[in-house]
Amino acid sequence: MMEAKVKDESLNIKFENFVDTLEGEDLFDKAKRVDKVLQSGVLTGYEGLGMVTMNKVQPESEIKEKDGNIHPVIMLGSNSYLSLSSNPQVMKAASEALDKFGYGMGAVSNYAGITDLHKELEARIADFYACEDAIVFPSGYGCNIGIVSALCGKNDVIINDSANHASIFDGCALSGAEIKVFPHADMKGLERILSRIPDEKTGRLIITDGVFSMDGDIAKLDKIVELAEKYHCRIMIDDAHGVGVVGPTGRGAAEYYDVMDKIDLNVGMLSKGPGGLGGYCAAKREIVQYLRLYARSYFFSTALPASVVGGLNEVFKLMKDDNAGRKELWKNIEYLKQKLVDKGFDIGHSQSAVVPVMIYDEPTLFKMYDELRKKGVYVNIVTYPAVRRKECRLRLCALSTLTFEQIDRAVEIIAELGKKYGVIK
Ligand SMILES: Cc1ncc(COP(=O)(O)O)c(C=O)c1O
Repeated sequence: MMEAKVKDESLNIKFENFVDTLEGEDLFDKAKRVDKVLQSGVLTGYEGLGMVTMNKVQPESEIKEKDGNIHPVIMLGSNSYLSLSSNPQVMKAASEALDKFGYGMGAVSNYAGITDLHKELEARIADFYACEDAIVFPSGYGCNIGIVSALCGKNDVIINDSANHASIFDGCALSGAEIKVFPHADMKGLERILSRIPDEKTGRLIITDGVFSMDGDIAKLDKIVELAEKYHCRIMIDDAHGVGVVGPTGRGAAEYYDVMDKIDLNVGMLSKGPGGLGGYCAAKREIVQYLRLYARSYFFSTALPASVVGGLNEVFKLMKDDNAGRKELWKNIEYLKQKLVDKGFDIGHSQSAVVPVMIYDEPTLFKMYDELRKKGVYVNIVTYPAVRRKECRLRLCALSTLTFEQIDRAVEIIAELGKKYGVIK
């Protein structure tokens, strides 16, 4: 009976069917069930995960497939939009910090795990946002978890856009606060929720991605700020994909809407546009001080290596004066988007370097993704649990260092497959 059940399960490849231990199963049997599906030869979308890159971030790269085959690709799958991961000035500073401080810090930030370079980075980030102080976490994911769970607790209510990043939702769950969710970018939905919060619930935090990681659109911060004032809420923005990219000088989504002084918690990731690793929060002095003591992913996690921090100091020098390649990036974003639209693709409402190519059908997505790589284009695949299955898509990222010719070549290949699978005419 059990055997038959497991066999049927193996044909049902939905991600969520492998999360729970089934009745009568050993804890690890779900891993065996996943393995069976992956070995079965049915395309699941997992095939292209875990590719090995053979180079630093660059427009023409090489990847190693799981069978060991190494082949060239045009890179449309890196979040290092400004190509700063491989910027010579940044790499030189990283290398100097490596020589001076070694390759690991050996301690958490509060226990002598940081150097003057770490302090310099926090000061540069605070300055970038015109805030009193900033705190740097060793991981972006941990940054959101730590901030939300430190500042919110059982008496508080957190109001989320449904498209917020997983790390925000995980932080919410960890916090024990009441969690409310409004449909993506639906300001009426947000107000409906806010208007129903009981008066006695005074600890209120609205959280939104600045640039949404899967759609590339910008949160409607003008309206969110207005509603936050009306309903007495604090605002946290995770601008992981906006920093360095959007806004008149690259200061992100809040600058785009000219509401920088209205944001309580300016969160961002050092791993995307800045090209390194880690996350930060720029805020008032006493908030940052509180986070240093109460954010557990800060207190209980080893500090960023000095090499990464050394590189990031150069990144913030460049970004401060808007010299980090933002203008070059935008030429490529506009060009890529136009070429995809000309071919007939639905690219949603992207306002950033993240450009979705909507496929809307998982079997088609899996086939296109698999063939794209083999034909020499590297893009990311996005379906459940990152987005709803019926909104599955390819996720393209523009890089500042791509040439128009490389973009042309990549779009031709994407269009060839789009036609083959009926995504475009
Ligand atoms: C919006 C957003 N927040 C947070 C993170 C986590 O950042 P990191 O990858 O640096 O841990 C990501 C990364 O995917 C993201 O897209």
